[in-house]
Amino acid sequence: MEPSLESAVEVRSYLGPADERTLAEDVLDGLTRPLKELPPKHLYDARGSELFDAICELPEYYQTRTERLILRTEADAIVARTGAVELVELGSGSADKTRVLLDAMNHAGTLRRYVPVDVSETTLRAAAATLVGDYPGLSVHGVVGDFERHLGHLPEPLHRRLFAFLGGTIGNFPPGSRRRFLRRLRKVMSPDDHLLLGTDLVKDPQVLEAAYNDSAGVTARFNLNVLHVLNRELGANFDVDRFEHVAFFDRKREWIEMRLRATEQQHVRVQALELDVDFAPREELRTEISAKFTPERLREDLRAAGLRLTELYTDPDELFAVSLSGQG
Ligand SMILES: C[S@@+](CC[C@H](N)C(=O)[O-])C[C@H]1O[C@@H](n2cnc3c(N)ncnc32)[C@H](O)[C@@H]1O
Repeated sequence: MEPSLESAVEVRSYLGPADERTLAEDVLDGLTRPLKELPPKHLYDARGSELFDAICELPEYYQTRTERLILRTEADAIVARTGAVELVELGSGSADKTRVLLDAMNHAGTLRRYVPVDVSETTLRAAAATLVGDYPGLSVHGVVGDFERHLGHLPEPLHRRLFAFLGGTIGNFPPGSRRRFLRRLRKVMSPDDHLLLGTDLVKDPQVLEAAYNDSAGVTARFNLNVLHVLNRELGANFDVDRFEHVAFFDRKREWIEMRLRATEQQHVRVQALELDVDFAPREELRTEISAKFTPERLREDLRAAGLRLTELYTDPDELFAVSLSGQG
């Protein structure tokens, strides 16, 4: 008997009241600092995830199409090299580029299971439902959770796994936490598993800044959406129209910063926390960093986590890199 779609998809959520507390704690901690700051994961509610998908289509946002091109060129070699039967993807989002890897595994006859991990449940469930329809015989075990806290909830491996962390999302960690995260990830990997990591490369600051300041204003809407999240989830009263999107390349640290700037003096109440927050005119709230890499930085970060870089794939213009690493 053919397995039904329901039996091919299993989604477990590890987000609960504790995660509402995480948002509350992040807001309490981040909005009371001298330089106000929020972690980027709060940008991705259902609306934020839709806006991110729209960003991926923008002409200025070279990352997505370049990473897809690299994957298309190298997917067969990656699958042959890793012998993976299972793809575990962190921050999977709409799992669009993922299809290139699933196609290659399918073609090689090894594809058995896909394990997406994402904080955005709506997006994860939609991707899982589409993929089991498109890949007969594929089972999907979705983990709705935070990849910083819930990696212990991955299902037992079937056999060799390929861990994919695409889209340059690793760049959202500041350097110290990045290495800590990679080390924790290495610890959940078995000796025969591999990591496929997508990283944006250091390049002309004009090209970088254009990618985060698109002319259609989609990135601005994505960034401002986090204020709607705080209004809805924590009963805050941000007047979103009195903030503007800012993104610039920090040349010393070699990362992009996204911020929200108060256009005038304002007072905000976060009801659920009984917290009052004042913004001076032009005061900024940092919402994301996106670190850019050189091959040396990447190799060193991986090495510090106990991973050995085995392949570094780039595009002809060296805009983006996809690396393969393992423990051997
Ligand atoms: C930059 S997008 C990349 C999406 C997709 N992998 C791609 O390459 O286009 C980051 C994704 O990671 C998810 N995400 C961000 N922080 C997360 C966290 N701490 N735990 C789990 N998922 C997270 C977001 O919901 C979003 O889907």
